[in-house]
Amino acid sequence: MTIAYRNEEMLGMVNAEDGTVDRRIFAEQDIYERELEQIFARAWNFMCHDSQIPNPGDFFMSFIGEDRVICVRDNDGNPPLRVNTCRHRGNAICRAEEGHATSFMCTYHGWTYDLKGDLVGVPGFKEVYHEELYRDNWGLIKAGRVDSFKGFIFATMDPQAPDLDEYLGEVGRMGLNMLALHGDNKAVGGILKYNIPCNWKFATDNVWDFYHGITTHASAYIATTPPDSHIRNSKGRYVARNLSFLAPYGHVMAGPAQSLERNANESSARNRGANSEWREKPETKAELGRMGMQAGGHPHIFPNMWITGNQVILRLPKGPRNTEHWFFTLLDDALTAEEKDGQRNGALHGFGPAGFWEQDDGENWGESTSGMRGVISSRYPLNYGMNIGRGEVIEEEDAPPYVESGVAEHAQLWYYRNWANWMAADSWDALHSNQPVATGVV
Ligand code: FES
Ligand code: FE
Repeated sequence: MTIAYRNEEMLGMVNAEDGTVDRRIFAEQDIYERELEQIFARAWNFMCHDSQIPNPGDFFMSFIGEDRVICVRDNDGNPPLRVNTCRHRGNAICRAEEGHATSFMCTYHGWTYDLKGDLVGVPGFKEVYHEELYRDNWGLIKAGRVDSFKGFIFATMDPQAPDLDEYLGEVGRMGLNMLALHGDNKAVGGILKYNIPCNWKFATDNVWDFYHGITTHASAYIATTPPDSHIRNSKGRYVARNLSFLAPYGHVMAGPAQSLERNANESSARNRGANSEWREKPETKAELGRMGMQAGGHPHIFPNMWITGNQVILRLPKGPRNTEHWFFTLLDDALTAEEKDGQRNGALHGFGPAGFWEQDDGENWGESTSGMRGVISSRYPLNYGMNIGRGEVIEEEDAPPYVESGVAEHAQLWYYRNWANWMAADSWDALHSNQPVATGVV
C-alpha cells in the first residue's frame, strides 16, 4: 500500500462538518493507487449478469481495479473468477471480451488452463522442466469470492470481505431489485464501452446530482420532452421532493421522489424507451416496500455500479484522470421483439456514447478533472455542502434511513465520507467501527 498520507490525513480529505472535499482525491497518483488497493481490491465488484455466461465454458472479461479478470462458467455451473494473467510471464490468457472456450491457452509459450483456472498443459513439461514443475501451484490467480444476487454476479478479491448479502444491505438489494424485478432479464449482446478523460468519482457522484440538469442538459431536455414539460426549465425542480437513502459501505440511492399513485420513473423511463409495468406487480411492491416504491431511482452500489432504467453502468478507473464507462442493457425476455427493439434503441439514445445525456456530462467531468491539477487550485477544496445541516435523517421501521429535502448534496457527501473511511481503514474491523452513521441531522 502506498503510504503518502496517514490514515487521519485521508479522513481529513472529506469534511462532513462544512461539506468540503479535497481536490487532491481526484488528481493524485498515490491516492489513485491507494484506491485500487483499499477500495477495489476489497469491495464486492459487479462482474456481469448470469445471462451473459449461461453455459459451461461461457466467459466474460471484466476488471477489478486494474486487474483484468475473467468470469467463466465452469463445468459444475459455478462462475469462478480468475485473474487474466499467465503465471509464466504474465501474458493475457484470453484476449476476447466475451465468448466460449473449453480451455485457455496462453499465446506466448502455450501454458494451458482449464475452466477452473488449473494449469493443465505445459509445453516441454518432460524435456525442459524435467517434470519438476508442480503444476498445482501455478494455476491462475483466484478471486477471493464470487457470489450473485438475482442474476447479478459480484466478486471480491478479499477472502475476509463480508458476505455479499451483508455488503449490499437493504439499500443495495433494493437498488438491484429495481432492475431485477423487471422480469426474466437477459443482457443484450455487446457492452457499450468508451473512455472519458475524467476521474472515475466525478462520474459516480453525478449519479445523484439533480442540480446540474437544468444547466448541463438544457438542450437535451428541449430535444426529448414536449414544450409544456415541467422538467424543461422549471426552477421548481430545485425544491421538488427528493429522497436520499444513505447506506453503510457508501451505497446510495437518491433522486426525485415518486408518488405512490404515479408510475414511478415514468418520464425518465419513457426517455429511454423502458416500460414501467413491472412497478405495478404485487411482487415489486412487496420487495421495494412503501419507501422503495417512492424512491426516485438512481441506486448506486459502492464503489462504481449505477443502475438506471434497464441499464447497468460501471465506471472503471484507468488512472486518476481517465475512466472507462461500460453500459450493460438488460431486457425482460417476455417482451415482444418490437418492444425489445424499442427499449434497446431507447437505451442507446439515453446513456452511452451516442446518448444525449452523458455527452453533456462527460465534457464537464473532463474539465472538472483538469481543474484538479493546478498547484494553486489544488489548495482549495470543492463544495459538496448543499443543504448541509438541514437534512434530517428519517428512521422508520419499514424503510432504510433516508433524508427528505429539495435538491441537495447529502448523497454525494455521504459517498465521499464513506470513500474516506474505506481509504483510511486498515481492516474490515476498522472499516466497520468508523462507518459513518446516517442519523440525526446531516
Ligand atoms: Fe504464458 Fe509464457 S507467458 S506461457
Ligand atoms: Fe447528467
